Amino acid sequence: SLGGTVAEPQVVSAAEPLLLTAVRGENVERPPVWLMRQAGSYQIICEKYPSFRERSENVDLVVEISLQPWKVFKPDGVILFSDILTPLSGMNIPFDIVKGKGPVIFSPLREAADVDQVTEFVPEESVPYVGEALTILRKEVNNEAAVLGFVGAPFTLASYVVEGGSSKHFSKIKRLAFSQPKVLHALLQKFTDSMAKYIKYQADNGAQAVQIFDSWATELSPVDFEEFSLPYLKQIVDSVKKTHPNLPLILYASGSGGLLERLSLTGVDVVSLDWTVDMAEGRRRLGPNVAVQGNVDPGVLFGSKEFITNRINDTVRKAGKGKHILNLGHGIVVGTPEENVAHFFEVAKSIRY
Ligand code: CP3
Repeated sequence: SLGGTVAEPQVVSAAEPLLLTAVRGENVERPPVWLMRQAGSYQIICEKYPSFRERSENVDLVVEISLQPWKVFKPDGVILFSDILTPLSGMNIPFDIVKGKGPVIFSPLREAADVDQVTEFVPEESVPYVGEALTILRKEVNNEAAVLGFVGAPFTLASYVVEGGSSKHFSKIKRLAFSQPKVLHALLQKFTDSMAKYIKYQADNGAQAVQIFDSWATELSPVDFEEFSLPYLKQIVDSVKKTHPNLPLILYASGSGGLLERLSLTGVDVVSLDWTVDMAEGRRRLGPNVAVQGNVDPGVLFGSKEFITNRINDTVRKAGKGKHILNLGHGIVVGTPEENVAHFFEVAKSIRY
């Protein structure tokens, strides 16, 4: 400015979060990095508000918990604190998440009449706190990182509501799939319509990328994945791309090594790999149009600092330059030393291609 006054140093927010530039394959100096379910003071809030639903359905708590890792580690992605089951109560499927037991569906869905009871999800009516929290997060993070929303994929949601909770053998949903496929398809279609709507709602309220969790789709053999998961994932991606063509969609499935080529067929922008596949092989099998995320074994964070550094460098080298988001192959494991998490971020951010 004129007149010789010294201007206050201004904090100018980045034009665009690094994560979004990297996903498009444009030039970036390093891979963006973020982690899921970071440790730290989250435990204190758990003690103060023992119910998961209380923690995840109150705007102030959702914002506070979502921002904890941001304040400590400054990751390139800030994920909304919520759960893939959160929308279920808005679809007439009462549930709880019980400490030490996990998700509990009060009346598991087992037949056509149960599926008929599932109502259409209207996010602005059922989960207004999600939109409000995302709006606040977006303002707080101010484009210095990408605000990430997420949803459960139809098959994975169906597995919870049919099994009644977490499952080992998935026998109830497989009984339904293999003896009354029409009933399961009707349920999957309801979840598909609702989750496409939910992704758009999250984007309209501030989410800059949305991750779809099909955690249990890999319990299906490839031929069954092609019937009970792939078409619905494709429908969601197509529907979202029509109204939100620039919203990056990330897909995660646990143990997805046998399905990678099929995961690319969904049309998502990013596939998040677990650690049972080699990054270089995963990259090659997914093809050049898909960005990659994840792949570092969460257990690596129990190793020495030198070991952690080596594994980060190995993953970054195998992923190649660009279209790579550095992350673990799943969330942080309880008991992970916080100083190792700090080291992970420090090393990740010092990388230069
Ligand atoms: O970094 C973050 O804050 C991530 C937020 C997040 C949660 N759940 C919070 C949560 C995300 C992205 C999820 C997704 C989710 N929820 C998935 C897909 C990801 C995956 O793990 O494959 C699935 C399958 C669920 C269902 C679910 N919710 C399970 C299996 C559990 C664990 C139950 C247990 O006792 O271990 C939950 C509960 C849950 N969701 C917790 C958190 C932090 C832990 C319980 C708690 O804090 O009370």
